[in-house]
Amino acid sequence: MTRTGPREMASVARVLASGRLGRYSTRGQSRTERFEATTAGFLDSPHTLAVSSGTAALMCALVGVGVGPGDEVLVPAYTWVSTAAAALALGAVPVLVEVDESLTLDPDDMKTKITGATRAVVPVHMLNLVCDMDAITALAAEHGIAVVEDACQAFGVRYRGRRVGTIGNAGAFSFSQSKNISAGEGGLLATADERVAVRAGMFHDVGSYTRPGWVRTDERLFVGMNLKMSELASSVLLPQVRRLDAELDRLAARRRAAIEELTAEPSLRVSPHHAPEDAVALTVTFDDPSDAERFSRLRGAHRLIDTGRHVHLNWESVRGGRTFSDRFDPYLWARRAENTAGPDSCPATVDILARTCRVRLRADLPVTATRILARRLAGYR
Ligand SMILES: Cc1ncc(COP(=O)(O)O)c(C=O)c1O
Repeated sequence: MTRTGPREMASVARVLASGRLGRYSTRGQSRTERFEATTAGFLDSPHTLAVSSGTAALMCALVGVGVGPGDEVLVPAYTWVSTAAAALALGAVPVLVEVDESLTLDPDDMKTKITGATRAVVPVHMLNLVCDMDAITALAAEHGIAVVEDACQAFGVRYRGRRVGTIGNAGAFSFSQSKNISAGEGGLLATADERVAVRAGMFHDVGSYTRPGWVRTDERLFVGMNLKMSELASSVLLPQVRRLDAELDRLAARRRAAIEELTAEPSLRVSPHHAPEDAVALTVTFDDPSDAERFSRLRGAHRLIDTGRHVHLNWESVRGGRTFSDRFDPYLWARRAENTAGPDSCPATVDILARTCRVRLRADLPVTATRILARRLAGYR
């Protein structure tokens, strides 16, 4: 959805002219700090932390809520591989959970995957769709599990009046190329929990040892990494945040128009959505995978099973539980011995992805052109 134009160019040019490209060298004029304040207001979240990527935001969030080696982290079997990789990289064990026809984590299957070692669940708001947050947060509360929302693909999207990524204990967003706003790479963490904010802040800046006085907390110091956002990235992102709500409204209007055209064809149905009143994304489900395959050959559609490392079947390193070293094997610490990310772990997800297609909506395409495309899709047979 990202379109960089004169505002972004002017914003970056000001940073370049200043020669101050790192957030701690701006003498109180940091664009990154302004980006954090702007996104905190936009999301209505007490704390935000700008980081280098969505994967970094996920790792900071997991560290923030206290996930560590051997802990089990529930992740959906349909998501970008980073969701599971972030857990593994911290020594935690990703446990795959089925998605349902909403393409998001199935709370009924989540219930069956909870064990005494489960520390967190990561519901993923895929494709600008939203998870069943009421059911997931209720279940997590019942079992004392932290909720880390992966809202990497859904910055700004609403669920029952709240922005996704602000409903659980922490939320992660990505600003890589194809996201709702983009700096090529970049990420953000949001949380209402002061302790999560402090731990995530420490982790993203080498434990903040380099900045005496930064950590105003009793939290025990620990080492972290350097996952900071640069002033160049935050200056590209700031103007885009201001435009985003208008773009999401345009997507919602195009969704409504596309649905009117598509529902003329009885062999396809619009996939269920957990917040239809705020919906900005569209997927359609067929009974027969071959219909989905035929539909996906047309312009503006693709079948979800064909989307590479968004499908758990293609997560070779996650399946093998492999990290950078065999001596850092999460399964050595885990209480359960069996692999929780095997190819047969989530058959319902594979079946649903083979029968479901995304209909790509474009905010910059006029509604009439959206209708024409949708009408062509409806005639796929
Ligand atoms: C659902 C999901 N989670 C996590 C990520 C990781 O974000 P990044 O690529 O910025 O590290 C992505 C990025 O594509 C994503 O789509």
